[in-house]
Amino acid sequence: MISPASVSRIIDSARIEDVVGDFVRLRRRGANWLGLCPFHNEKTPSFSVNPARNIYKCFGCGKAGSSVNFIMEHERLSYPEALKWLAKKYNIEIEETFSEGDKEHEEQQKQKESLLLLHEFAQKYFSKMLSENEEGKSVAKTYFKERGFTQNVIEKFHLGYCPTLKSSFSEYALRQGYSEELLIASGLSVKDGEKLYDRFKGRLIFPIDNLSGRTIAFGARILRKDQHPAKYINSPETPIYQKSKVLYGISFARKAIADYDLCYLVEGYTDVISMHMAGVENVVASAGTSLTQEHVRIIGRFTKNITILYDGDPAGISASERGINLILEEGLNVKIVLLPAEHDPDSFAKSFSASEVKEYLEKNSQNFILFKTGLQSKAAGDDPVKKVALLHDIVETIARIPDPIMRGEYITRCSRIGNVSEHVLIGELNKELRKKYKRTGNDEQPFETKPEEAVLLQPVFEEDDADAQERDILRLLLNYHSHQISFPKNETVEAADGTTEWISVPVATYIIEDLERDEISFGNTLFSLMYSELKNRFSAGQNLSADYFLNHRDDDVRELATDLLSEPYELSDNWSRHGITVPTEENVLREAVEGSLYSLKIRKVMKMLRENRRQMDEQWKKGIDIIELMERQHRLETLKMKLSLALGIDVLK
Ligand code: CTP
Ligand code: MN
Repeated sequence: MISPASVSRIIDSARIEDVVGDFVRLRRRGANWLGLCPFHNEKTPSFSVNPARNIYKCFGCGKAGSSVNFIMEHERLSYPEALKWLAKKYNIEIEETFSEGDKEHEEQQKQKESLLLLHEFAQKYFSKMLSENEEGKSVAKTYFKERGFTQNVIEKFHLGYCPTLKSSFSEYALRQGYSEELLIASGLSVKDGEKLYDRFKGRLIFPIDNLSGRTIAFGARILRKDQHPAKYINSPETPIYQKSKVLYGISFARKAIADYDLCYLVEGYTDVISMHMAGVENVVASAGTSLTQEHVRIIGRFTKNITILYDGDPAGISASERGINLILEEGLNVKIVLLPAEHDPDSFAKSFSASEVKEYLEKNSQNFILFKTGLQSKAAGDDPVKKVALLHDIVETIARIPDPIMRGEYITRCSRIGNVSEHVLIGELNKELRKKYKRTGNDEQPFETKPEEAVLLQPVFEEDDADAQERDILRLLLNYHSHQISFPKNETVEAADGTTEWISVPVATYIIEDLERDEISFGNTLFSLMYSELKNRFSAGQNLSADYFLNHRDDDVRELATDLLSEPYELSDNWSRHGITVPTEENVLREAVEGSLYSLKIRKVMKMLRENRRQMDEQWKKGIDIIELMERQHRLETLKMKLSLALGIDVLK
């Protein structure tokens, strides 16, 4: 157990903005810091760090806590592990007492730490061999120099060499007190009979570091191709190295990725290093394995933009489409750059000057989906069969994007590029989305809506004008104020016997309370006048009888009431526009009321969002705390999503 004195020393030293800042790119917002939440996938920052209270809170997913909580959650550590992590960061010495229960865990931690120390030791040994060992100097160093790697970059990436002698490293490590067991566990040594051999003998060494820059594995390249079938071999998976979660170069790139809000993705070690030499530092590789979801999530903490570099031959693109799909599914944007013919990122970066490289990358980045559409549409030409295949392919890709707004934008642009009608694309998209919802099952649906409703994509509407919707609410209020509408008592759970319990509410109660709850007010002067009068009478317990309004002192109100009362059964604009047939409103009063509320609210919410965003910007410029506005923004965003899903429309900005 860690002594209470140590615990409080750690907690006092661990500044939340500092701890979080190691993993999340934070920007100052008034008294707080703001960034993209590392615990859930988001595009607009809702992760807030409050230095005064020394806590963080995500207004998106609700995760909140202290520095210790953050490290526990983020690094998946237990409480004592997190404390030790922090103690290490702040160079605090820990007083500890041991109990039986801690032991197993303690052992694991110790092993991890021993492995890390061994890797550090090995890395230093390999570096030393490169610069001091005869073979290292004559063969390995020469090779690096021939590749154009400067001394600077060799040192920066801690490149090294493992001599050809069968077990020079293993023997040295044993002499220095590292156990045989640990050497084997690390994968650095392999046991053959009684003896240990160096796994990487005769190879160039590329240390692989974790996010904080500690070496956790090695990649190793043969000197000449003919020596061995495998050009590169890597460390095996160990308690400190899971290749699906490690990106080569990330510790060097993380800052640049955040600064440029962009991450370049290349194939391997040499590509990363050459790009660095060309001054492009926001670059990583998924060395030793193809791109995984975890890789994408790591990048996603620093930026939402990934650009993949390809050899001049675009054939490689279809090979890596699985990776691209992963990126899109995580809600990140993918661009690609086709390098000049005959070049891979490594040779390309070396053949041009730093400014040429940067300029080329900037000028030749193309959005992947649009690029693919263009490519296929060219290939399809006038062939209708090919065109159908093209269409299907593109839509399948677009359907992977989680954000409906983005999907809508892509559909529009792809319909132009591919010269296919937007309606056809939307139809295809909805088919794909339905399939996807079926596959994932109800659990993974973001909101409680039927898939059919959630996925329908409809054309854009003018959200500024809500007159028709306000009028429709008034129409329902005047005509049906005391009609009862029924709702299942609990929307999702059925009673034990399979029957549903219903509760009834008068239409007026339902509408007024619903608008009140979401702080919706009317914009049209006349409608607003009538609505507030209705509302006041309702609150005062007076009846909302038609007679009162038909005999109103105000001419306009009287006229409006007459109109509204004479059109009770007509379909509202919205319903017919959404292609829903409503036989009589009496039958579907509940749907009519809900639909009308949704249509009104989505317009109001969009407006409120813009207004709130504007206020946030204004206050932020003045240095005023915007936490409350952020909370409001989040509430409104959630409401907007729910509404657009319920209405079955994609809300395009
Ligand atoms: N790579 C790998 N395993 C292989 C081949 C390649 O992990 N068997 C990765 C490496 O990270 C390498 C990158 O892919 O840096 C590029 O591959 P390649 O060009 O074949 O490697 P180079 O070392 O650049 O070899 P060459 O000099 O032949 O181009
Ligand atoms: Mn190469």
